Amino acid sequence: MAQRVVLHTDIRKGTINRNIYGHFSEHLGRCIYEGIWVGEDSPIPNTKGIRNDVVEALKEIKVPVLRWPGGCFADEYHWKDGIGAREGRKRMINTHWGGTVENNHFGTHEFMELCAMLECEPYINGNVGSGTVQEMSEWVEYLTFNGVSPMAELRAKNGREEAWAVKYFGVGNENWGCGGNMRPEYYADLYRQYQTYVRNYGDNRIHRIACGPNADDYQWMEVLMREATRFMDSITLHYYTVPGATWEQKGAATGFDTAEYFTTLEKALRMEELVTRHSVIMDKYDPEKRVGLIVDEWGTWYDVEPGTNPGFLYQQNSIRDALVAGLTLNIFHKHSDRVRMANIAQTINVLQAVILTEGEKMLLTPTYHVFNMYKVHQDAELLDLTLDSGSYSFDGKEIPEVSASASVTAEGVIHVSLCNLNHASAAVLPLELRGLAGQAVDIAGTTLAGATIDAHNSFSEPEAVVPQPFTAFKLEGDTVTVELPAMSVTVLEITPK
Ligand code: AHR
Repeated sequence: MAQRVVLHTDIRKGTINRNIYGHFSEHLGRCIYEGIWVGEDSPIPNTKGIRNDVVEALKEIKVPVLRWPGGCFADEYHWKDGIGAREGRKRMINTHWGGTVENNHFGTHEFMELCAMLECEPYINGNVGSGTVQEMSEWVEYLTFNGVSPMAELRAKNGREEAWAVKYFGVGNENWGCGGNMRPEYYADLYRQYQTYVRNYGDNRIHRIACGPNADDYQWMEVLMREATRFMDSITLHYYTVPGATWEQKGAATGFDTAEYFTTLEKALRMEELVTRHSVIMDKYDPEKRVGLIVDEWGTWYDVEPGTNPGFLYQQNSIRDALVAGLTLNIFHKHSDRVRMANIAQTINVLQAVILTEGEKMLLTPTYHVFNMYKVHQDAELLDLTLDSGSYSFDGKEIPEVSASASVTAEGVIHVSLCNLNHASAAVLPLELRGLAGQAVDIAGTTLAGATIDAHNSFSEPEAVVPQPFTAFKLEGDTVTVELPAMSVTVLEITPK
């Protein structure tokens, strides 16, 4: 089958929620400490203890929402340990992640300050696994209640008179695993109980988020939707792309072979099936699609970099990760009627990070560049696109060669994001623009490509993989033919004149 794309520029299919471009930052390894928080006395330039370089880089990609404090850490976190004078805060062991001492210097006030700096929505994940209903309820009161109450007074005593606005609140994390090893029936009942005390104070309206399934655990989704749909605004899904066959041998972040490259992309493409099948279950209990699906943990998960703490989940990030990001975001766009938020794991120095740091040095990964190129899709209208992709075969297996998605901004500018997954050949693709009624267009583009399957940025070569202007296209009539380099992510900008 010949490869081609038909883009109906006049058929809109709903808004791509900007929260699909969300992030996740856990108290894990060097994500919060060093990656974000260096403390006010650090020689690393900071504002109120938060790194300036990192804030600037994250503002550039328009992070819309940030999830915190975990992950598995959330169900062991007791928020009162992280408020008040920093010197007096409790020190604890981070048992999940490397057994390090957590000094609680980054707590509620610091997180809310970070969100203010990034101009993003906070998404706070509460503790069900080892926390009480009272503790969760008091956290919400501390955050959002303006008036006379013990928690509002405590907040004022800690320097913050005014309540914050907090919309997104998660009731537990992975309660089928690190969040308590619960059965879905048991968690569904606990969810109903805990969320009752997650109150709306004043004008603040909380979007309550239930812990959803891991990957293809359709039974968990079925039970949660059956028992608790009317008590939730969204439910989560976690899916990680792990190339290896076992957790003990996940595969390396660089230095892998072509078979592993192919398998990684094949496994990342599984997100399509997972979102589709979970949506079918959600449709059964919520045909109006009131409840959102939030993929609040996704990304690649490899073996840690040699010589680093296995509990820190520190990995490099290559053009392969850029392709995983590009194709996954394209899948989320397609399902934006149900997928209302997604949070890549994790922002800095952990798993598929957009930023890596080494002391005062910072680098932007290929995944960062994809988020920067794709930010034009945030809150844009999804356009109808039909892709007849050729196939990319390796070792008797086949996946589509190209992944594509398109949207139009409020100003009428069209963006088409295209990933060529093929490691060896360029993809020549005619893109037919329908619905423009003869209107002339200007076209520009940006592309991110790798010279090798594991091309990446390092502290000695931080700009080995960076976006370049894309000029390999030709417009004839209403068809623009693009030549996408091997292993590349490209965004075309089509502006009607
Ligand atoms: O992102 C790392 C961990 O992966 C999270 O803490 C947990 O929720 C998931 O298993």
